[in-house]
Amino acid sequence: MQHLVALLTSFALFTAAAAVASPPSKIYGVNLGSWLVLEAWMLPQEWLDMGGTSSSCCAGCISDEWSFAQAYPNTVDEIFDTHWSTWFTEDHVQQLQADGINAVRIPLGYWIVEPLVNRSSEYYPRGGIKQLQRGVQQLQDAGIVVILDHHALPGVQTANQQFTGHCTSDVEFYTPYNYHRALVWTAVMTALSHLDPAFGNVFAIEAVNEPIMDANQTPGYGEFQINFVQTVRAVELILGIPVPDVTLPFSLGTSNTTAAFMKVAAANSTSLPAIFNPNVTAALAEAGPILLQVAAELASPSVLDFTSTQAPVFSSKTPLWTNFMDVNWQYDNPPNPANAAIGPQGYDNHLYYNYGGVADPNPDAYMYSICNLQRVQADAALGDTPLWFGEWGLPTQFDATDEFLYMWADAQKMAYTEGAGWIFWNFNVEKSTLAGNLSRQWSYLDGVNYGFLTKDPAAYHNASVCDPYYYNTTSA
Ligand SMILES: *[C@@H]1O[C@H](CO)[C@@H](O)[C@H](O)[C@H]1NC(C)=O
Ligand SMILES: *[C@@H]1O[C@H](CO)[C@@H](O)[C@H](O)[C@H]1NC(C)=O
Ligand SMILES: *[C@@H]1O[C@H](CO)[C@@H](O)[C@H](O)[C@H]1NC(C)=O
Ligand SMILES: *[C@@H]1O[C@H](CO)[C@@H](O)[C@H](O)[C@H]1NC(C)=O
Ligand SMILES: *[C@@H]1O[C@H](CO)[C@@H](O)[C@H](O)[C@H]1NC(C)=O
Ligand SMILES: *[C@@H]1O[C@H](CO)[C@@H](O)[C@H](O)[C@H]1NC(C)=O
Ligand SMILES: *[C@@H]1O[C@H](CO)[C@@H](O)[C@H](O)[C@H]1NC(C)=O
Repeated sequence: MQHLVALLTSFALFTAAAAVASPPSKIYGVNLGSWLVLEAWMLPQEWLDMGGTSSSCCAGCISDEWSFAQAYPNTVDEIFDTHWSTWFTEDHVQQLQADGINAVRIPLGYWIVEPLVNRSSEYYPRGGIKQLQRGVQQLQDAGIVVILDHHALPGVQTANQQFTGHCTSDVEFYTPYNYHRALVWTAVMTALSHLDPAFGNVFAIEAVNEPIMDANQTPGYGEFQINFVQTVRAVELILGIPVPDVTLPFSLGTSNTTAAFMKVAAANSTSLPAIFNPNVTAALAEAGPILLQVAAELASPSVLDFTSTQAPVFSSKTPLWTNFMDVNWQYDNPPNPANAAIGPQGYDNHLYYNYGGVADPNPDAYMYSICNLQRVQADAALGDTPLWFGEWGLPTQFDATDEFLYMWADAQKMAYTEGAGWIFWNFNVEKSTLAGNLSRQWSYLDGVNYGFLTKDPAAYHNASVCDPYYYNTTSA
């Protein structure tokens, strides 16, 4: 009986996958955090075993990928390859599929495109891109679609965070050199998503995870958002994928991807549509040769000839979704990513209660807050729709009872599905003596095992859970 249910489930997902070129109508997703961007706090014992010094320090210790690669230059690649192979496996894919997960967000560092790393002054492991190719293929086989999330940006986008790969107060992302490197990364990932069949389940690329919230401290970020969309669309035009309202005015005369990028980059700009601005053509010029190296590393000849194979899911040649943190992520006159859109675009908001600043630290305050959340409506009023909640979890600032966690899971899912859906942080975390009960509130797979999260992600324990907490308009 269980086998039959599993078979029927996988058949339904498989048939859905054959038509994927856009997000599922509701996203029920998880993040693959700490896989290709490692955050030591999520695996405290493994981090010590690997050779890290502590999972809770920042600078002056081995706390992140950068300091680890600096400390172990000769063994870092091998040690990380073991982590990548064991942290996210085919067994996890099977569990996520059985739990009805239809999408994953994959946090990535800029260093996964290895030629972008300045090896004389920057330290990161190599070889992650092959693991990414392995993982997206496994997810594709399970009918699960993917968001490639540029989570850790060149130069570091936020101070003192392990999730940037380099825990430092020296934030250099918001500069021309690093914006340029982020666009090269974008061009490479766009090409891979369309040309390497393993990446055929990628439907979106996210520009920047969690930029600094104060827009005063992110000069040039609005222009970068425009350049990001234009870079994705420029690559798609070169590959022959229709883009709304823009066409290439001349024939490329080659099916060599690298040569085509170089030819467009070298063309007289007055003959090209406006999206091929100098920032975009500079990114194409650098991405072209990098694709030769990446294709070799991935053993993926279809990347080199853009007429040879189209990834199966993209046989209809639809453009990718561009994806940004929503405008309300920032304050102090933030740029609105809606102004950058060309073709399909989605928006991402993250909501954690355990770090404070959202609601008073008690169960009732949490419930009033989440049951009356207005973020989907506030974003829609500014054109940032569809919105999904790309990070959230069950953690609380107080000791939560099991009874509360059932309500807390239901109420959050209910709030987030008023938008395009949700993506839990994280699919899993370490289970060890040192980690304690970390997995109880941070692991999706364990949340389902404990029963806080329903086995069917679209279901609720109690669909009336918010009824006593809605503010009555008359009393407001
Ligand atoms: C790489 O880093 C070194 C040391 O900071 C610097 O001198 C050099 O200009 C950098 N190379 C590039 C291409 O930026
Ligand atoms: C675009 O390129 C110009 C130099 O060509 C540079 O001054 C500017 O800062 C770049 N803009 C962004 C957002 O990278
Ligand atoms: C494709 O073009 C690049 C850049 O001109 C060149 O280095 C490469 O050899 C070409 N590949 C083939 C198969 O012709
Ligand atoms: C670019 O094209 C414009 C319009 O066709 C022409 O006037 C200009 O001379 C060209 N520039 C170069 C450098 O070829
Ligand atoms: C972890 O949480 C679960 C669910 O609330 C509970 O049953 C278990 O006893 C906890 N384990 C520890 C070690 O606290
Ligand atoms: C569901 O929640 C509502 C509101 O708290 C409550 O009145 C009702 O008893 C709950 N239903 C069940 C089956 O627990
Ligand atoms: C809103 O009104 C309902 C029905 O009268 C009540 O059960 C609920 O407690 C009220 N909510 C608040 C926040 O006052």
